Amino acid sequence: MSETQTQNTQQAQAGLQDLIASNSSICYIDGPNCHLVYRGYQIEDLAQHSHFEEVVYLLLFGKMPNQKELQQFSNELASDRTVPDSVLKLLKAFPKKAHPMAVLRTMISILSFYDKEDNSVAYEENFKKAMSIIAKAGTIIAAWDRIRQGKKPIAPDPKLTYAEDFLRMVLGKKPDELYAKSLDLYLILLADHEFNASTFACRVTGSTLSDYYSAITSAVGVLKGPLHGGANEQVIKMIMEIGDKDKVQDYIEKALANKKKIMGFGHRVYKVKDPRSPILKDMAREVSEKKEDLKIFRMSEQIESLLAERYKNLPPNVDFYSASLLYNIGIPTDLFTPIFVMSRLAGWSAHYLEQISDNRLIRPRANYTGLSNLVYTPIQQR
Ligand code: ACO
Repeated sequence: MSETQTQNTQQAQAGLQDLIASNSSICYIDGPNCHLVYRGYQIEDLAQHSHFEEVVYLLLFGKMPNQKELQQFSNELASDRTVPDSVLKLLKAFPKKAHPMAVLRTMISILSFYDKEDNSVAYEENFKKAMSIIAKAGTIIAAWDRIRQGKKPIAPDPKLTYAEDFLRMVLGKKPDELYAKSLDLYLILLADHEFNASTFACRVTGSTLSDYYSAITSAVGVLKGPLHGGANEQVIKMIMEIGDKDKVQDYIEKALANKKKIMGFGHRVYKVKDPRSPILKDMAREVSEKKEDLKIFRMSEQIESLLAERYKNLPPNVDFYSASLLYNIGIPTDLFTPIFVMSRLAGWSAHYLEQISDNRLIRPRANYTGLSNLVYTPIQQR
């Protein structure tokens, strides 16, 4: 028998591009027409009229709440924000240099120790876990940011909205109304996005009937990558590295000549426009004007124009203007991706619950491109 190259008849699509992996009733994307829909509602409508707590309800329950339902849900979510003291003590033991995304990934996993039903795959139990983790993520991120600076964490205030309270716990003072509104908008826009890489990871873990905490921990690890959620932090790093509006053109030209990817541009599904980007751009401009500091925003616009001149299919994605927005409301750069988690936890949780309520193990196949028919030779003869 001679050595041969084996190839399956079915070819793989690199990066699973355009592959339909499952049915889902949570989120709809029409890439060519730039539409994004949560549970039947257009993202533009939600951005204009809704707020984060309502969107979380919509994603988890699959319908809009009435006044009473929303009030009760928001109260439950707010009362779940408190993190046990023993958990805060653990945070204090972490190395101060630890990246907040690594801290959050670890803490979500650790919170399973405090849940008597941590391994349960019962829908109601997992719904409770989802509420708890969505509520606590902001408290953990804010506490870590203060602890690493040697400051005391600030306890959550259930009278405030999720966005207001998070900003207060990070900044140490009552947040400006526009800044809180802009963070709320950001949280709405990023709450779900169909079968993106992190959501798919969450569903794959869920499909093994592993627990909610494991599924969410997988998702956080995937979101951290700079080709996915980690891009928002890289955008601001790039702008800081450029330093000045007069250096933008040269930097971008050189980066493109060296085949470097420009962070915050391009998308697997949106080749014309990411519908979230113009909404974030308008809010980023508003926030910069209020702050009377348009430097980062103007440099962002310059980068956008330069790329638009060169490429037809490389629009700014959701991470591009969110970087300028979060920076200008005073959020430390390395909290950008953890804040993305705060929002996407709603989507991940909805997808986890959908996966386990009609589960089949996710287990694709590979197109084998290696060798076959090799003959084993003892090591002394190699
Ligand atoms: N800058 C420069 N060129 C780019 C960029 C970019 N940001 N994105 C894509 N391209 C180029 C690629 O080099 C490739 O060129 P080629 O055909 O000459 O080789 C072409 O456009 C197609 O790009 P792919 O990487 O094949 O597109 P894919 O769909 O696989 O990747 C991705 C999408 C990962 C988002 C990519 O555009 C990218 O790396 N962007 C930068 C990172 C980023 O902003 N990620 C956040 C995405 S949004 C989110 O996850 C929340």
